Amino acid sequence: MNGTDIPGEPKLDAFLDWGRDLHHQGRFEDAARAFELILGLDRDNEEALIGRNRAVRRTVPRWHWEMLHDEERAELYDRAIRRAVAADPDALVLDIGAGSGLLAMMAARAGARQVVACEGQPAVAETAARVVRGAGYDDAVSVVAKMSTRMRVPEDLPRRAGLLVTEIVDCGLLGEGILGTIAHAREHLLTPDAVILPARGRIIAQLIESEPLYRKNHVGKLYGFDLAPFNRLSTLEYFDSRLHRHEHRTLSEPVTVFEFDFATADARPQRTELRIAPTAAGRMHAVAFWFEMELLPGIVVDNAPGHDSHWKQAIQCLPEPLHVQPGEPVVLDAAHDGECLRFEVAS
Ligand SMILES: C[S@@+](CC[C@H](N)C(=O)[O-])C[C@H]1O[C@@H](n2cnc3c(N)ncnc32)[C@H](O)[C@@H]1O
Repeated sequence: MNGTDIPGEPKLDAFLDWGRDLHHQGRFEDAARAFELILGLDRDNEEALIGRNRAVRRTVPRWHWEMLHDEERAELYDRAIRRAVAADPDALVLDIGAGSGLLAMMAARAGARQVVACEGQPAVAETAARVVRGAGYDDAVSVVAKMSTRMRVPEDLPRRAGLLVTEIVDCGLLGEGILGTIAHAREHLLTPDAVILPARGRIIAQLIESEPLYRKNHVGKLYGFDLAPFNRLSTLEYFDSRLHRHEHRTLSEPVTVFEFDFATADARPQRTELRIAPTAAGRMHAVAFWFEMELLPGIVVDNAPGHDSHWKQAIQCLPEPLHVQPGEPVVLDAAHDGECLRFEVAS
């Protein structure tokens, strides 16, 4: 039944208009809730189903599915979680950024008696709770629909947790706020000796010549027009792409940019100057970077080039290509603001 009344219920058309208005105002979570209300009255209402899906798609990134199919990531997390839980099955586990509930369920499957998984996106949190219930882990796992930074002990977490599991990293490691989130958790949600998984992170960068990657962020004269002014809209920061799927040459060895020990790291901005020796002459178009994350000693997950990690690599194109040659070091200023890493050529 579409656009008609349910006897004794308010006009659905007015609710549908309300949902669409919220969507057009960019209030996607409110729009999703409005369409949910309609579906509560008429669960097959197709316009409401589509409206809710459109709204949810604006808040829930598409990468969830590709991430869940990344078997290497899952296996490494599973191995690390099993080891951490076996060491102390009574430790309260906090999973920050539940997503589908995968890591929380891994902890429960490994024998953890109590797991609290928080998820900041309401639609994802609600869905995680369904997944956990469906998988039969709801006796051990509870889902809190909140950002970890808004959680409190004991209202949301019965006591400070002894094991933190989290995977809130993007291709550049810092982009989902892992530094600030873990620092907040250490201060407010974890015991002083809590095991933090991941334990450490390292960002690694390499100079790259690649016209095809450069073209993902720059235009010039095309079709008889000078489109270069459009480059004022090109991204100054990184985007994700698979290096090995684009013709490229490496112009240096990989170098370490920043290292983080998540037992102590915080989100204060950092800056470092890198002097990188080119290993070949060429036109440097971009800095490619990636991370290695040590979940526990000896268990390392990474998104280095050459394998099909769902994270891909982080690519930051230069505003102009830079001619480089061996014997003339490239001086790069690398700075992060707690969430985003950016490189600038200093000379
Ligand atoms: C990369 S996904 C990982 C999902 C799941 N843990 C997994 O490994 O399959 C990160 C999720 O964390 C959520 N998130 C990020 N930061 C958060 C925070 N501080 N508190 C709660 N949720 C957070 C995001 O909304 C997203 O759903």
